[in-house]
Amino acid sequence: QENHKGRDDSRFLDQFLPCSSSLSLPGPPGHFLIGNMMELKHDHLPIHLTNLAQRYGSIYRLKCGTTTMVVLNSSEVIREALVKKWCDFAGRPISYTGNIVSGGGCNISLGDYTEKWKAQHRLVHSSLQRCCKKSLHDVIERQALHLLKVLMGYKGRAVDLSEDFTVAASNVITTLAFGIEKLPNPVFAHLLKEVVRRDEIIGRHLNNYKQSQDKKNQDVITGSLLQGLDNQNTEDKALLTDIHVHMATVDLLIGGTETTAAWLNWMVAFLLHRPEVQELVYEELCTVLEGRYPKYSDRHRLPVLCSLISEVLRLRPVAPLAVPHRAIRDSSIAGYFIPKNTVIIPNLFGAHHDPEVWPDPYSFKPERFLNEGGGSGGGSTRDLIPFGGGARLCLGESVAKIELFLFSAYLLRDFQFLLPESETSLPDLRGVASVVLKIKSYEVVARPRPVTNP
Ligand code: HEM
Repeated sequence: QENHKGRDDSRFLDQFLPCSSSLSLPGPPGHFLIGNMMELKHDHLPIHLTNLAQRYGSIYRLKCGTTTMVVLNSSEVIREALVKKWCDFAGRPISYTGNIVSGGGCNISLGDYTEKWKAQHRLVHSSLQRCCKKSLHDVIERQALHLLKVLMGYKGRAVDLSEDFTVAASNVITTLAFGIEKLPNPVFAHLLKEVVRRDEIIGRHLNNYKQSQDKKNQDVITGSLLQGLDNQNTEDKALLTDIHVHMATVDLLIGGTETTAAWLNWMVAFLLHRPEVQELVYEELCTVLEGRYPKYSDRHRLPVLCSLISEVLRLRPVAPLAVPHRAIRDSSIAGYFIPKNTVIIPNLFGAHHDPEVWPDPYSFKPERFLNEGGGSGGGSTRDLIPFGGGARLCLGESVAKIELFLFSAYLLRDFQFLLPESETSLPDLRGVASVVLKIKSYEVVARPRPVTNP
């Protein structure tokens, strides 16, 4: 395998021989996608890759310019690569744009699997755990109540809720990170795209934080991260600097805003398509909670709500192609030899629409999760992998799960979401895929539920 060093891996990837048979890794012939790649950016790339899986199977190669990528399309092969062989596929490909937005690879999501990355990951993971344990539930509850007030203020008018969902999700993560609710910009999502201004504002906050007495306040993530920097043990000492805290904060703000907000918008849209599901969730919330708002610990008593959450995550995993991985050594997937440096695309959207696992995969059927263990609905939470897995598992998974649960429970307890009377068509569920899979904007009426139980 050492002989591969220094060679252009993409060229000989074509000649892959599966370890167990003489067939080469399948895939579309030639540079099929080069011309189409830019167009596909605005179309639905995950659907396109999923359609190719019908022809080429759950693992295939794809040529794109000078790079050849390997696309994984079933939960089985994705788990083999990301979880079972995590130490072979924990790398990230280096890209020009990635380098610009990540301060030269100093963030968690785009940083390669190095000793520095591991130290940064340890630091962020432990800070996140500590702060979430103390205050996550309270912070989300406060934001959920605020969101209810905002919706009440619309007084039944038809509105596009995407901005309100973005503000709510953004407030959760900025409160956790800085102990403040809003960064000084009303359109936070846009701000995050402007790297320079983003860095200026986050840098200013970190500096203020360092100089303030709050520095030792480990209840907020930045306090905890900065304290962690001070306490670096000798092993990590030379590794991490302020830029790693800065970029990790950016990671959490970006990861924690767009994803949750996009998911909430999908959930409401799917419920407009099947209003009877909304009624079932509402009945369950009324019966189980007897008028109070839920806690995350109530989730085991709210299976209908949980099935709705799982089904929306299945149909619209908000990071449909995860983040590309890179093989950091020669390895294999499904018996195919995969050389070091190969770019791996985990097609989570494809895995969630695999007809071998999910009967009627394109239909919105939360009930499939209620029939787990023998029913006819098919599908199991084991095959649900919206957060990826292994060394690169979404760092915010536990934050996200609590947010999705509490926000949706609060919203569906207090409001009935309806298609505006003036609207003749239901929201378009095809979505627009970039890194985050979002729904095209649509309007909805949030009608307050009666205060008493039905
Ligand atoms: C990475 C999904 C919410 C922070 C990821 C990945 C996925 C994902 C698929 C890539 C995994 C891979 O590379 O294999 C989701 C979904 C969310 C969500 C579906 C909500 C519905 C969040 C939140 C945060 C967050 C709330 C922060 C608080 C991150 C970070 C990474 C990441 C930092 C990079 C991890 C790494 O490269 O090791 N997420 N995410 N995510 N997510 Fe999330």
